[in-house]
Amino acid sequence: PEPQKVVVPKIEKEPDADDGKKKVSIFFGTQTGNAESFAKALVEEAKVRYEKATFKVIDLDAYADDDDVYEEKLKKESLAFFFVSTYGDGEPTDNAARFYKWFTEGDDKGEWLKKLQYGVFGLGNRQYEHFNKVGIVVDGKLEEMGAKRLVPLGLGDDDQSIEDDFATWKELVWPELDRLLRDKDDMSVATPYTAAVLEYRVVYHDKPDPSTEDQTLTNGHSVHDAQHPIRSNVAFKKELHTPQSDRSCTHLEFDISQTGLSYETGDHVGVYCENLSEVVDEAVRLVGLPPDTYFSIHTDKEDGTPITGSTLPPPFPPCTLRNALARYADVLSSPKKTALVALAAHASDPNEAARLKFLASPAGKDEYAQWIVANQRSLLEVMESFPSAKPPLGVFFAAVAPRLQPRYYSISSSPKMTPNHIHVTCALVYDKTPAGRIHKGLCSTWMKNATPMTESQDCSWAPIFVRTSNFRLPIDPKVPVIMIGPGTGLAPFRGFLQERQALKEAGTELGSSIFFFGCRNRNLDFIYEDELNNFVETGVLSELVVAFSREGAAKEYVQHKMSQKATEIWNFLSEGAYIYVCGDAKGMARDVHRTLHTIVQEQGSLDSSKAELYVKNLQMSGRYLRDVW
Ligand code: 2AM
Repeated sequence: PEPQKVVVPKIEKEPDADDGKKKVSIFFGTQTGNAESFAKALVEEAKVRYEKATFKVIDLDAYADDDDVYEEKLKKESLAFFFVSTYGDGEPTDNAARFYKWFTEGDDKGEWLKKLQYGVFGLGNRQYEHFNKVGIVVDGKLEEMGAKRLVPLGLGDDDQSIEDDFATWKELVWPELDRLLRDKDDMSVATPYTAAVLEYRVVYHDKPDPSTEDQTLTNGHSVHDAQHPIRSNVAFKKELHTPQSDRSCTHLEFDISQTGLSYETGDHVGVYCENLSEVVDEAVRLVGLPPDTYFSIHTDKEDGTPITGSTLPPPFPPCTLRNALARYADVLSSPKKTALVALAAHASDPNEAARLKFLASPAGKDEYAQWIVANQRSLLEVMESFPSAKPPLGVFFAAVAPRLQPRYYSISSSPKMTPNHIHVTCALVYDKTPAGRIHKGLCSTWMKNATPMTESQDCSWAPIFVRTSNFRLPIDPKVPVIMIGPGTGLAPFRGFLQERQALKEAGTELGSSIFFFGCRNRNLDFIYEDELNNFVETGVLSELVVAFSREGAAKEYVQHKMSQKATEIWNFLSEGAYIYVCGDAKGMARDVHRTLHTIVQEQGSLDSSKAELYVKNLQMSGRYLRDVW
């Protein structure tokens, strides 16, 4: 049997005994580390300004191991800041999920947080429908519970420059903290603060020690998560588009039989991919050190004391520069302003240093937005333009190149059919940026070029892990299901249909089901066509409705097909159906949501606000679920 996933809660030690200093707690809910680094940046600066206070950066998950502990500890807080990111469909990050659920769904306790003064900075992206929802909700709830808002909610927009949003918000924070944390008789001006460039301590090793390399990529952990992925081989791969298509979509299967991994239908798989070797070559050249330089990075000084309050991310295992650049450095995203400051500090040409500093400064805001963000200039392109900027490795990995993040995919299989394989359905990312660079998607290119076991014993592999989702079929298989998923939004529904097939084969009676799929043209990108038809023939799927967007004169999308089937959808919903949407959040899911609203309004003869309430109730009761990105 597969080992059970056990989540070991991380418990923080109680703060030290009262030393008379005012205490400030800075909470973060982070997925890729942005919220965490803003939290730490606030603390770094605050420490310099307010020597008489203590600041603590706290992972929301690690704060408490159950709801009562959250309540007990929060009651004792008097001054706190929250840095919370919003993801996908207005959801909190994994490490904030438990807190968020408890905080927003719990019983009304009245104004139980009257002692608390607070500020919230949300991280989101305006392109998404639920822009900064988590920040907005947490900010509102805190007030509702009696806490006093010190500064207006900060709405960080990653679509523009979130660093500028943070800088603006921070300027509202200081006057409040001056008031609260500085003595009345202390009239001196706050110590001027310039952010220090973060840097790891680097140790160079003569010879690679094979026993220390790659611990995290292999084993030794029974629980596999983003911090402890496990190596998994590519068992099988095939192209899903026809040869006539000028795009590509890969079906890929990971073999999880020896890994201890297990999954449920509807879960996500996180995949760590290495940078393409052409990208690594370029990065090695720009860093300017031999690729076989073998080194390790450390967050403590030689005497064991932490560097700059240990705000550095945990180090990666010792390895060669080439491997470090391949596995751990995100060199294709646009550099943050802090990265430009770090590059400037190590540019030997004063003109280059000045220009980098300007781009990172408030005066260079528009130029940064245009030259870097709008042109999608990668870190490598920027380094290419500033050849004298050669930061040492400790700076490069701490402040210049962010850590390479895993990519998440909705699993397109069901463990009821393939318990030993995780299927992924992945469209190739291949675009030209406005600056003329060809951008090849990291993981999708890797998947397209992967060598499966069926072709070679020496097959491709990647460190992977499973992330649980709430995208699940109804417990009662007789409940009707409506599925909407154009393009690779089909992925979890292939899993759903496999699960229904397994149930049917075991003699279970199934309720009705309808799947709205969309693609460009039946001869190019109608992925899994035979399988879908087979699901219909065997009665696993009651109806397949396909919108072809580029066959006729007019575009036809899934939402147009939904409008045509309005009566059927309404009847299903009236019978208690679950409705699922998967795929692009910015366009499709938003349009589908509007269409659903219209269908409910027209078919149910409701006014707009009643229809909205109806749809909201579907969401609240878990009958309208979205897996969107
Ligand atoms: P298009 O590329 O012709 O615009 C899968 O990507 C399918 O989703 C394609 O047929 C694509 O059509 C379609 N699509 C693009 N934008 C959409 C939207 N806002 N709503 C629904 N489908 C969309």
